[in-house]
Amino acid sequence: MMNTMPLTDYIAAIDIGTTKICVLIGHVQPHGAVEIVGIGRYPSYGLKKGIVVNMSATVESIKRALKEAQAQAGITVQKAIVGIAGSHIKSFNSTGVVGISRPDVTQYDIDRVIEAAKAIPIPQDREILHVLPQYFRVDGQEYVQDSLGMHGVRLEAHVHIVTGAISSAQNIIKAVELAGVEVLDIVLEQLASAQAVLTPSEQELGVGILDIGGGTSDFAIYKDGRIRYSKVFPVAGNHFTNDLAIGLGIPIAQAEEIKKSFGCVTEQAYKDLGMVRTNVALDHDVGTKEIEIYSLYEILQPRAEEIFSFVHEEIIANRLMLLMPSGFVLTGGGSLLRGLRQLVQQTLQVPVRIGSPRYYFMPGDDQNGVPEILRSPLYATAYGLLAFGLKDNKTFWHNSSEAPLLSRVLQRMKTWIYDFL
Ligand SMILES: Nc1ncnc2c1ncn2[C@@H]1O[C@H](COP(=O)(O)OP(=O)(O)OP(=O)(O)O)[C@@H](O)[C@H]1O
Ligand SMILES: [Mg+2]
Repeated sequence: MMNTMPLTDYIAAIDIGTTKICVLIGHVQPHGAVEIVGIGRYPSYGLKKGIVVNMSATVESIKRALKEAQAQAGITVQKAIVGIAGSHIKSFNSTGVVGISRPDVTQYDIDRVIEAAKAIPIPQDREILHVLPQYFRVDGQEYVQDSLGMHGVRLEAHVHIVTGAISSAQNIIKAVELAGVEVLDIVLEQLASAQAVLTPSEQELGVGILDIGGGTSDFAIYKDGRIRYSKVFPVAGNHFTNDLAIGLGIPIAQAEEIKKSFGCVTEQAYKDLGMVRTNVALDHDVGTKEIEIYSLYEILQPRAEEIFSFVHEEIIANRLMLLMPSGFVLTGGGSLLRGLRQLVQQTLQVPVRIGSPRYYFMPGDDQNGVPEILRSPLYATAYGLLAFGLKDNKTFWHNSSEAPLLSRVLQRMKTWIYDFL
């Protein structure tokens, strides 16, 4: 018989992607490290561009992934951290100013200045998902990351605000609850991926991260250890597959396979493959079709350029280049496309690497603590969500309130701001 998950020993994360659901269960060791004891993966059929379009299919996929992870771990998951992305996500920076009530900045002043930074008009159908402090300033002096106890009369806070459509957030929560798991928090997916793949020094110096999934490409910039910018682009891996299906006149499933096996987006990647043509088996015994590998390059390369021209324009328009001296990290399954790293490097003219989960739970350890199977850009989000779970485990696990679900989850997310101070 399975054990029911004890309160603090286990943490669980569910990444609900457009192409796959991934459930991770971590066992928290007494010294704070986390051992991953359950991994469950199942194809996702109910989402489009990160948004639930078929509830029952989504619930079913979550249940299947959960079942696999639970069987491995030998426990039942009761609560989990869940990721959120989708083209409905909109982020921006905001500033708040308040008078300091005593000679020195107190937690009360910090709470008020963040409230002030949050006080911006938001459409009724949207909700603030995250308020992430960037830096503070007392009396117009130096920017600091922690203003508690500083002396002055005027406190200024700069924050990054992430908003999402209420209905989309509710549907994600509902799908998980229908699969029998309580949602502890919902976390913007690129925040999770960043925790999983970026090194502390990259986050400190300044780095861009792009998680290219199946439905969306989730972008963020970190500098001074804080998030400075985020945006979700509604183009990703599935678009490459669709282009191939249409361009070559083959079914989606075959296009997906051929993309993974032979897809390339630079001439060099094509040459390195050392293959000229291949045969694709078509559906229903229609026979096979011969495909020139070069035609894959001709179809995929413009799409890759298109995605990066969006990102590049965003970087130029918002003068973000200066924030990324450490360069750019690509993650998500879409980053596995041959030649993509080189193409991005040429476009952005900065060093580019592919990011897989690094061992987050103990300082100094790089990839050794990460199970072999998760050492791929495909699992950046799920792994990063677990890292957020650890944070929650310490702070909020015992908080259970009677408030309605969405507001309770959102409330929790708002309280995170203290974690970042
Ligand atoms: N070897 C590969 N080469 C090229 N593309 C790949 C490869 N492996 C996976 N992909 C692509 O990666 C995408 C899936 O990536 P990922 O699992 O990160 O997405 P997801 O999390 O399900 O979706 P999203 O984050 O957009 O909701 C698919 O489009 C898939 O075709
Ligand atoms: Mg994803």
